[in-house]
Amino acid sequence: MTAPAIAPAHRGGLPFATAAAQSPASSSVQASTAAAGPALARVRDLRVRYSADEPLVLDGVDLDLFRGETVALLGSSGSGKSTLMKALTGFAPITDGTAQVAGFDVAGLPQRRMRALRVQVGQVFQQFNLVGRLSVLTNVLTGSLHRAGAANLLGTFRSADRARALDLLDRVGIAHKAGAEARSLSGGQQQRVAIARALMQDPQLILADEPVASLDPRMSHTVLELLRSIAREEQIPVLVSLHVLPLALEHADRIIGLRHGQVVVSGDAADLDADALAPVYDTEEEAE
Ligand SMILES: Nc1ncnc2c1ncn2[C@@H]1O[C@H](COP(=O)(O)OP(=O)(O)OP(=O)(O)O)[C@@H](O)[C@H]1O
Ligand SMILES: [Mg+2]
Repeated sequence: MTAPAIAPAHRGGLPFATAAAQSPASSSVQASTAAAGPALARVRDLRVRYSADEPLVLDGVDLDLFRGETVALLGSSGSGKSTLMKALTGFAPITDGTAQVAGFDVAGLPQRRMRALRVQVGQVFQQFNLVGRLSVLTNVLTGSLHRAGAANLLGTFRSADRARALDLLDRVGIAHKAGAEARSLSGGQQQRVAIARALMQDPQLILADEPVASLDPRMSHTVLELLRSIAREEQIPVLVSLHVLPLALEHADRIIGLRHGQVVVSGDAADLDADALAPVYDTEEEAE
């Protein structure tokens, strides 16, 4: 089951399209030229504190994600990149502000609704998170577990799902590896499997937390171009955190720079360069 593409916010608030039309985009949330339609994620003045005696990890973050665009999240280690992604899926506590994602108002979402939200968000991680002893095809099929539940857990995936999984493996360029154990694949191949698995959910957006940090430079380019082409062709936004500034400049439509939990740079990648992104980093070395 796929939720409506433009669902109204779960708790109060306006449908995204209306809300977006009413509030002029500030420089920190502006859509890139690749973007279209209403925001699939809309974050306003987001604050996250993991515990009462610790400082804010996110401190007033605004962010919109639109169909078709790839948005790179840059920031030094500890700046809050992973926390922002976690907050969008309810894995980090929202202390203040709002996060509307795929039609859900994340703050205070009950557990059942939270599961429904997470189905709408495809996730890709640095370490791929595949089940190594299972086949590539089965790993992709686990992306559809939410649909057929127990039948799928018993290994009896619907033939329609199998066909879709094979299509997606073809889409990411490794259909010929469908029967191989996931652990036998290279890092770049494993990450492509993870992307296919995320697509198997029919997500409304994709969050990729340092998806190329374990890959060599050539494979990093390949995987980031794949994510960008998916964003464009499937018309879903991709938010991707990166440590390597040139990769962000080359493969993202828009860049958000976090420093100490605040957005300090935001704009179209085409309008930015290393100098413009300097405020994101504490030292020049970190931007290397
Ligand atoms: N579960 C947690 N409980 C308490 N503090 C946390 C938790 N997760 C992260 N933090 C803290 O929040 C801050 C931001 O961490 P986060 O992982 O979001 O940064 P990051 O930008 O993703 O860093 P990196 O580039 O190293 O992945 C850090 O100070 C971290 O120690
Ligand atoms: Mg992180």
